[in-house]
Amino acid sequence: MNYGQALADILAAQTNLPIEEIIPAIETPPDPKMGHLAFPCFRLAKALKKAPPVIASELAEKIEASRPTWLGQAVATGPYVNIFFDRGVFAADVLVEVLDAGQEYGSLHQGNDQKVLVEYSSPNIAKHFHVGHLGSTIIGKALDNVYRFLGYDVTSINHLGDWGTQFGKLVTAYLKWGSHEEIEKTEIDGLVKLYVKFHEEAEKDPSLDDDARAWVVKMQNGNEEGLILWRWFIELSMSEYNRLYKRMGVCFDLIRGESYYSDKMDAVAQELSAKGLLIESEGAKIVDLEDHGMPPCLILRSDGGTLYPTRDIAAAIDRYNTFKFDKCLYVTGNEQSLHFAQWMKVVELMGHEWAKGLVHIPYGMFLFEGGKLSTRKGDVIKMEDLFNMAEEKTLAIIEEKNPELANKKLVAQQVGIGAIVFNKLYTSRMKDTMFSWERALSFEGESGPYVQYTHARTCSVLRKALSGGSTLDFSEMALAMVSKPSFNGNLLTEDETFDVLRLLKDFPRKVEECAEKYEPYIIARHLMDLSQGFNAFYHKHTILVDDNEPLRLARLVLTAAVRQVLKTGLGLLGIASPAVM
Ligand code: ARG
Repeated sequence: MNYGQALADILAAQTNLPIEEIIPAIETPPDPKMGHLAFPCFRLAKALKKAPPVIASELAEKIEASRPTWLGQAVATGPYVNIFFDRGVFAADVLVEVLDAGQEYGSLHQGNDQKVLVEYSSPNIAKHFHVGHLGSTIIGKALDNVYRFLGYDVTSINHLGDWGTQFGKLVTAYLKWGSHEEIEKTEIDGLVKLYVKFHEEAEKDPSLDDDARAWVVKMQNGNEEGLILWRWFIELSMSEYNRLYKRMGVCFDLIRGESYYSDKMDAVAQELSAKGLLIESEGAKIVDLEDHGMPPCLILRSDGGTLYPTRDIAAAIDRYNTFKFDKCLYVTGNEQSLHFAQWMKVVELMGHEWAKGLVHIPYGMFLFEGGKLSTRKGDVIKMEDLFNMAEEKTLAIIEEKNPELANKKLVAQQVGIGAIVFNKLYTSRMKDTMFSWERALSFEGESGPYVQYTHARTCSVLRKALSGGSTLDFSEMALAMVSKPSFNGNLLTEDETFDVLRLLKDFPRKVEECAEKYEPYIIARHLMDLSQGFNAFYHKHTILVDDNEPLRLARLVLTAAVRQVLKTGLGLLGIASPAVM
């Protein structure tokens, strides 16, 4: 049930205000002790020629006189009418809603199959997957999940950085110094070494740069020798990336790199030129953006080579023609914000109406407390090292806390990686995140493991109650329980219990807000509140009471609903929810 709407109906009947005016005026007081909903009476003062506090107290009286069952109490406080729910009715309503919807709870399918593309991760091949791409992958995956959940028709895209001058260098270096066997064995490490060697040698012998440029041109013209090597470099790189994606549970509908658009860029330059947007500047071709407060967008280099913005414009046009998207989201580090603002403005200036659907979603940096990751001497943080370390550290904690646990390794992966993901998603995305192992892996603090642990706790309570029934049946069992005639919401009215119920009720709104603002932290925080709320309830009240069947039933139903929402929420964030840990 929609309480705001229900209250608005009552207020509309009691006042002469139109409902469209009432709905946005209804507030949720910051402290539930003041009320669960509130209506300020200022706007009625003029029409009624009375002071707002007088109006509030008359209105509260009228509502009290004919209140529906859900409405516990209407009280005037100054110029406000504060509304308290009937806790028992509220409990039954929320729990039936959650358990009825099951895995769907939180989604109203508001997406209506609108087409959304979500582009994320997009590492540059022949380089290690690094922390910068980790942020994109984590945030992108969460938004991908959330939009799908809300009923949007989502296509996820990995826009690999697989084109540009560096591949000419790599081909040159490989042909001069590379060994097939060595590279097969060392993958990206070997490629990075070659790349570094190229730069060292090119300082001494600048003709190497000419060779590299010549290779780029040859490859652009379809030279098979170069392209075979290039495809192999992609394959080697993807092998590392795929290992990481697998551990994170990430997979893409489309892996389509920048190279895919290499034959679509002339058309961009032509269209820009035909629309009178392309101008010459120091031999290069640019679009002037001075009127829009930005430096010019570079389209063609003086040697005719294309550039990063050109590839993005070509990709956007191609994506629109292919998918007719309503929205196309790009998740990248904040340092690329200007690049996105520029090329998106260019698409708009080209007169493409769909440019309004292009959304850049930047995020802040991922920093490590105490500087770099301690184990590596090199300057890049290899994601594989970070993941290995997370799993090892988690396994050590499990060995200490629960050495009997089955599937320790799998759980250590789910919890270790989940800890990194949760940590990244717990702050609003533009804030830099400061990563510390201690905080991220703490089972007690504001961490992923804490939420996962709370979920496992709900599972454990339910398992005990259902004497061993599999966790998979929990939803069905819970639905059966809430439908029992002996289920009584009036037994769920204590403060801690009511807090949990309010958080359950709020979940769908939080999911929607996350999609609207592209902010997964809204869901992460909510899960944290719910976990803390449930644990407060758990410590204060016995769930499996022996001598009071209706109370036991009511509390079990609440536990089942919490389990459902934690599981759904963690899933949306891209985090696993083991039933035991
Ligand atoms: N490959 C780029 C990088 O690693 C990110 C690509 C972002 N997406 C885009 N459409 N430009 O910096």
